[in-house]
Amino acid sequence: MSEETIIIANWKIALGGKESGELAEQLKKGLRRLPDGKEVIVCPSFMWLQKVSEILAKTDIKTGAQDCFWEERGAYTGNVSPLDLKESGCHYVILGHSERRKYLSETNLMVHQKARVVLNNGMTPIICVGEDFDQRQGSQKDYAIIRQLSESLEGINVATDNKIIVAYEPVWAISTSGGGIKPEPEEVSYSADVIRHILLDLYGNEIVNTCFRIIYGGSVNSSCVADYTKLPNICGVLVGSASLKIEEFVEIINNA
Ligand code: PGA
Repeated sequence: MSEETIIIANWKIALGGKESGELAEQLKKGLRRLPDGKEVIVCPSFMWLQKVSEILAKTDIKTGAQDCFWEERGAYTGNVSPLDLKESGCHYVILGHSERRKYLSETNLMVHQKARVVLNNGMTPIICVGEDFDQRQGSQKDYAIIRQLSESLEGINVATDNKIIVAYEPVWAISTSGGGIKPEPEEVSYSADVIRHILLDLYGNEIVNTCFRIIYGGSVNSSCVADYTKLPNICGVLVGSASLKIEEFVEIINNA
């Protein structure tokens, strides 16, 4: 996987069709050329993913989805097929975001099944892990991360041409649904090491170095982004609220 700094925008369901289209047009204009060494991925809501992918098609900005179902086709009312995501121009899929775990009881097993189908379809899963406030207070942080990540990945074969992004997103750091507390970079670096050790246990050095990237997410904005991206074991950021305003997001990309 490339050595570029990865900046992912998670628009959640904050924007309607008109606003999503406008923000995508602004990104197209404002980021005609991406700064060297930066990879930018925008994850709009399912409804506007195709529209945004079409607007950004001739730019270097890639699009991703915020989830997908673990079966490709069938009688699964209301779910979104990974085949359709691929067809709509999507290259990345966020999986196991804490808001899905919280509001939709998403489990590690579901994340596991989804990661498998995303990889089988040549897309890159962005697997979110991170402890909540109580787990952190109760010294269960490592345990929470180890469990989420190993149950999500164990048994999934990763080949050298696969790409997997692991996003460390402590729930207490997320600006809207979490506590909005910015972690010290040392704490993020510590957790990134925990993640790397789990990956090494599962896949060994070569696959981990070739296929995996660890990023950070939670209350990232243009003033703090570099505190995290300068950490040697953090390769990028997942940005929620601060990705919804064009000037701020462009600043994040420049400062990352
Ligand atoms: P935030 O969201 O940047 O608004 O904290 C991050 C996320 O939920 O992925």
